[in-house]
Amino acid sequence: MRKMILAPSILASDFLHLEKDLQMIEESKADWLHVDIMDGVFVPNISFGPDITKSMKKACSKFMDVHLMIEKPERYIDDFVDAGADMITVHLEACNHLHRVIQQIHQAGAKAGVSLNPHSNVQLVEDVLEDLDMVLIMSVNPGFGGQKFIYQSIPKIKALKKRLMERNLDALIEVDGGIGLHNAEAVLDAGADVLVAGSSILKSENPLQTIERFKEIGERGSWV
Ligand code: DX5
Ligand code: ZN
Repeated sequence: MRKMILAPSILASDFLHLEKDLQMIEESKADWLHVDIMDGVFVPNISFGPDITKSMKKACSKFMDVHLMIEKPERYIDDFVDAGADMITVHLEACNHLHRVIQQIHQAGAKAGVSLNPHSNVQLVEDVLEDLDMVLIMSVNPGFGGQKFIYQSIPKIKALKKRLMERNLDALIEVDGGIGLHNAEAVLDAGADVLVAGSSILKSENPLQTIERFKEIGERGSWV
């Protein structure tokens, strides 16, 4: 039996009231907290560093899912584990030695994920799948919240799910970008385990209620 994991992305917060949004997530039925780290090089935008991430953990104790959109992520893995990251996901496109980086994350004491940009085929993670706790399929080009879901992600999720089942591996499939109540079911149907949702939750009129709606979708589908 599979259970949907919902990971609200704090990138969509009004940063003047970061603590309020973190407390809302803490008290909600959401499962994880998704934290987007951007360096202005791998992606055009700049977001949070390890210090603010550490402070976030104090306001929200949920499983911290840190998505590193930075070049040479090996430089910062220890810092983010120290900041409280439970899962660290690096981009395939940002690593020259992906296998080594995955080992480094595990040695530092966190779970390890690898993310694929929309142009990267799922076959590219084939040789590290056994070492992974999660594969993150980007359903927008990383860098900004509030973008439109790229539907080509659906066959990618299906292809990855098929491969994991064929090889009897239990890495989670996370999908990130443009996810809302309108497409959550299609993403879950394709084989996703973890849904990241930023603006569809935090920019909604009633974020707590939106989280509940997501959870209802997660509980009624054929993937359960
Ligand atoms: C995009 C980030 C996402 C972003 C998602 O680069 O990785 O996690 O916060 O935001 P929405 O859900 O608004 O597309
Ligand atoms: Zn993300």
